[in-house]
Amino acid sequence: MKFFIDTANLDQIREAQALGVLDGVTTNPSLMAKEGITGAENIINHYKTICEIVDGDVSAEVISVDYEGMIREGEELAALNPQIVVKLPMTKEGVKACKYFSSKGIKTNVTLVFSAGQALLAAKAGATYVSPFIGRLDDISTDGLILIQEIRQIYDNYGFHTEILAASVRHTMHIVNCAKIGADVMTGPLSAIEGLLKHPLTDNGLAQFLADYAKGNK
Ligand code: E4P
Repeated sequence: MKFFIDTANLDQIREAQALGVLDGVTTNPSLMAKEGITGAENIINHYKTICEIVDGDVSAEVISVDYEGMIREGEELAALNPQIVVKLPMTKEGVKACKYFSSKGIKTNVTLVFSAGQALLAAKAGATYVSPFIGRLDDISTDGLILIQEIRQIYDNYGFHTEILAASVRHTMHIVNCAKIGADVMTGPLSAIEGLLKHPLTDNGLAQFLADYAKGNK
């Protein structure tokens, strides 16, 4: 399972990279705005910096909603660095743009996916990644993990190569459950990734080992 961090915060990206388990980064316009990154030039420079920090794929989302605009923006973004994955919304225009980029060998991430039918369409259009938003489904009392299961089954039935990128991951158990179901990738906050480290028996066990060592080595 690949681990992506879902942020535009450079300190958190560096910290996740330093842990040695990071495979990529996802961003979106809201995450950019949260970090105060505004204006086309600043946004482009921010993507370049993220690509320098991490080794893996970096999803960069288009703002255009029309096909021509998506193609223009996506080509500009893809030209920045081979690590860039063009992130496109799950709309009719987005699916058409996905087909265009996949036929050109440019990586894509179809975002804002909330149904198995949408995920099927993204795979048919040759998406590199499909992003079902599990946290936002949970927010409206719909089990996001069931969607991951459905997409896994459909992709396995037909041997689609599109990777299931479980997005809108909010906490550590989302990661564990997505791994159990067989999501190819998860993208979440640093706190959810670091949550995987924690267990009180690990802390107690280590404290005991160190205390016993200290007793025997006075
Ligand atoms: C995915 O690529 C999105 O950036 C993200 O996971 C959305 O998460 P949220 O629902 O916590 O905003």
